[in-house]
Formats: sequence, C-alpha cells, structure tokens
Amino acid sequence: MSPKVTSNSPVIAIDGPTASGKGTVAQKVAEHLGYHYLDSGALYRLVGLASFKKGISTASEQELAPIAKELNVIFQGDRIILDGEDVSDQIRQEEMGKRASEVAIHPMVRQALVARQHAFRQKPGLVADGRDMASAIFTDAVTKVYLTASAEARAERRYKQLIAKGFSANIQVLLQDLRDRDERDANRSNSPLKAVEGAHHLDTTSMTIEEAVNQILKWHQVN
Ligand code: DC
Repeated sequence: MSPKVTSNSPVIAIDGPTASGKGTVAQKVAEHLGYHYLDSGALYRLVGLASFKKGISTASEQELAPIAKELNVIFQGDRIILDGEDVSDQIRQEEMGKRASEVAIHPMVRQALVARQHAFRQKPGLVADGRDMASAIFTDAVTKVYLTASAEARAERRYKQLIAKGFSANIQVLLQDLRDRDERDANRSNSPLKAVEGAHHLDTTSMTIEEAVNQILKWHQVN
C-alpha cells in the first residue's frame, strides 16, 4: 500500500507501544503548535466496539472490513460519538484495547481506515499517534518519533488511568495484557509496530510529560 499525500501540511508522527503515554504527549504537542490531532488507536478501538455490539468475532476479517469502512463516528473535542452515542469511556476499557489489537491484524480493516486517517491532515499541521503513522500512513512526516517506556512503567500508568476513571484494575493482569498486546502489534505481518529509520527514539520511563513534549517540540523546530 502506498499512501498518497493528501496535502502539504506538516505531520509529526508519534508511534509506540500501548500505554507509552504517546496519546497525552501527542495531544499536548498538538495544542502547543495549534495542530490537529489524530488518535489512530481510537479508530481500531471503535472497530473493536462496533463489532462487539454486533456480535461479530475479531477473527472475521470479511465482516470487520465494512464496519471499519462505514464507522459513523464524530470526534468532538475529547469526546468520541459512535452512531450518536458517546463511547469515549467505553473504548478505553481494556477489553476494547484487546479487541482493537485483534482487529488491527487484518489488512482489509487497516486498508478501510487509511482514507479516514489521511483526512485529519489539514492546515496548519497534524500530530498523529499510533503504531504505523511513520511507516505506513504518513511516510512523509517531517518529524518522526518512536516513543516508549518500560513495560512496568506503562502498566503502572495504565493502572492509574483506569482507577482515575473509576474502573477496577489489577496491575499484574495489566502487565501481562500489555506484553501480549506488544507481541501481537509488533509481530503482525501488516504494518507492525516498529521504529522507522530516521525516527527519534524517546524513552519516557523516567521523564515527565512536559519533558517529553519539549523534546519533541525541539526536534520539530529543527526540521
Ligand atoms: O494506541 P491504542 O492502545 O489506543 O491502540 C489500540 C490498538 O489498536 C493497538 O493495540 C493496535 C491497534 N493500532 C494499530 O494497529 N495501528 C495504529 N496506528 C493504532 C492502533
């Protein structure tokens, strides 16, 4: 698949494993620059949720592809509306993260989401977060970042996020779950999670959000 360039607006691509903090960091970078923001993981989570509601298995590529293509979704600030229902919290649940990772292995599902992701590229620029932003969707991104953190730090962050949202959580289960997800995301044959050549590596294990944001802004200024 060779994605077409949809506009000349600059893109900052931030890829990395689950719960690495890239969502928060990417949103802050976007705010700082006045850029648009794409949370590509939310699209896969939406496919996970929409198919769950219809009783469709994450193994059924043929049935999942039309769901991905026809997602009736509106991004309203930090709220995500699917078929008129606010699903912002539902898609953040661990079960939907797992389903997202499972539906994301299918080439037809990924293909069905390409145009939707390109549509976020608008003036004055875009910060896109995901797994394949630099390697597949925005290969001409001016700034490419591979953001990670240790599995333990990520499990702890995810634990705190879930508790803050009022969900129950177990840190050992979360750690195992994110290791499984890393394994699936990095080893699938279609657009696996990987750092592309030329990407800046940012390990945020012992960094604050502000430090990570400032580092990315510095890299972007140089470009
Ligand atoms: O970033 P996240 O945890 O919300 O992503 C959920 C899942 O979606 C992730 O485990 C794999 C998939 N995903 C993907 O395959 N490609 C992307 N660009 C973003 C997410």
